[in-house]
Amino acid sequence: MMALFITIALLSIPLVAAALLLLRASLRRRLLPLPPGTLGLPLVGETLQLISAYKTENPEPFIDERVGRFGTLFTTHVFGEPTVFSADPETNRFILQNEGRLFECSYPGSIANLLGKHSLLLMTGGLHKRMHSLTMSFANSSIIRDHLLVDIDRLVRLNLRSWSDRILLMEEAKKITFELMVKQLMSYDPGDWTESLRKEYVLVIEGFFTLPFPLFSTTYRRAIQARTKVAEALTLVVRQRRKESEMGAKEEDMLGALLAGDGGGSSDEEIVDFLVALLVAGYETTSTIMTLAVKFLTETPLALAQLKEEHEKIRANKNRSEGLEWNDYKSMPFTQCVINETLRVANIISGVFRRTMADVQIKGYTIPKGWKVFASFRAVHLDQEYFKEARTFNPWRWQSNGPSSNAVNVYTPFGGGPRLCPGYELARVEIAVFLHHLVTSFSWAPAEEDKLVFFPTTRMQKRYPINLQRRNMSL
Ligand code: HEM
Repeated sequence: MMALFITIALLSIPLVAAALLLLRASLRRRLLPLPPGTLGLPLVGETLQLISAYKTENPEPFIDERVGRFGTLFTTHVFGEPTVFSADPETNRFILQNEGRLFECSYPGSIANLLGKHSLLLMTGGLHKRMHSLTMSFANSSIIRDHLLVDIDRLVRLNLRSWSDRILLMEEAKKITFELMVKQLMSYDPGDWTESLRKEYVLVIEGFFTLPFPLFSTTYRRAIQARTKVAEALTLVVRQRRKESEMGAKEEDMLGALLAGDGGGSSDEEIVDFLVALLVAGYETTSTIMTLAVKFLTETPLALAQLKEEHEKIRANKNRSEGLEWNDYKSMPFTQCVINETLRVANIISGVFRRTMADVQIKGYTIPKGWKVFASFRAVHLDQEYFKEARTFNPWRWQSNGPSSNAVNVYTPFGGGPRLCPGYELARVEIAVFLHHLVTSFSWAPAEEDKLVFFPTTRMQKRYPINLQRRNMSL
């Protein structure tokens, strides 16, 4: 009996020790503090400070001030919830890479309603993985090279050819990226139908910026109505194409892939939500970068001259109306520097929101389960520690002898991890082709005092009027 007692006691020692260790670890975990910061007033938190900060011209006033006081990981309270902000590249990478394990994407209900519940941006788990890779495969380099480039070149020219002597560049860029997305998603050429769809889209996008009180906002209600109209128009297209595909017709576009069941046999509603969100994701982002690249080039004549030289060299080997080919796109190294630099200083996607799925320990702090987290890409992209004279537009920093691998590692304009932007190459090609035809066909000057705020914030002036002179080399 005694022997049995001793055996049990001996066997229990490691178990008890393990339990104690676990308890200690869990206590330690819970004892790790929250990142420092202030939660502001009850309910509103620091939301008002956030909104008023972005009415100034400083690109990151809210984050800059708090990083100065608390460091690159801090706690605040915005839009009704305590939120941890990260301006730290390592933490941002950790957040992106742990998508689906420790963090999941999280959008307010008002945005989810506008996107549609079956959109890729809201999907999680296995379904997200499958649909993300389907989207990636529709916009990868070889598809762009073999199928999409020819339409991008044609539609960009078609647009530029119709320009008058004075245009609103942002408006024109939006028209172009919308037409490109519609063509790539469902093979529709531009016409009255695309233009009236785009008008509704503008209203939907305005709805994204009505936070934090969408239910009281006319803009939001108008956005929801416009979303319904967009969905109705797309449903008609989906039905028609479904009929055609049942009769054996096949189109090599995103809609074709969805109808063929590559996404697991989707319903009309699922396909429409999916398309609506893709159009949102690829439209405003790319057109803003096009416009701001032109703005920065106009303000940096040396860069504009170097860019022109690169494109005129490509044109010199081609007939006037000959389209750009993949090899041409691949011989635009300085253009890529300009695109990189514009994305660094002026990306409208300044970072991403996530929600913690468990208590997360990071850098000596705990972020409790269920908390909101904001990984700020822009704060890192504008940090002097990684980019010398970070707030100056300097495309040469991306040339082969620059920037340090340190800077490249912290550069995430398209996000990363399982939610890496599937349109990153497509966006680059669209911007490069646009710049090619612009600089080889026109000279320009801003038409009036330039009111476009240098860094795009929610208050960005959205037009950028310019006066054009036609040189007519490539159109
Ligand atoms: C300059 C242009 C663009 C920028 C700066 C940009 C940036 C981003 C970023 C940062 C994300 C990650 C969001 C997150 O992690 O929550 C993202 C996701 C996404 N982007 Fe882009 N994007 C651009 C163009 C495009 C284009 C042309 C398309 C069209 C194919 C596109 C489609 C998407 C989609 C569908 C997602 C969601 C991916 C997912 O949640 O799995 N984007 N984009």
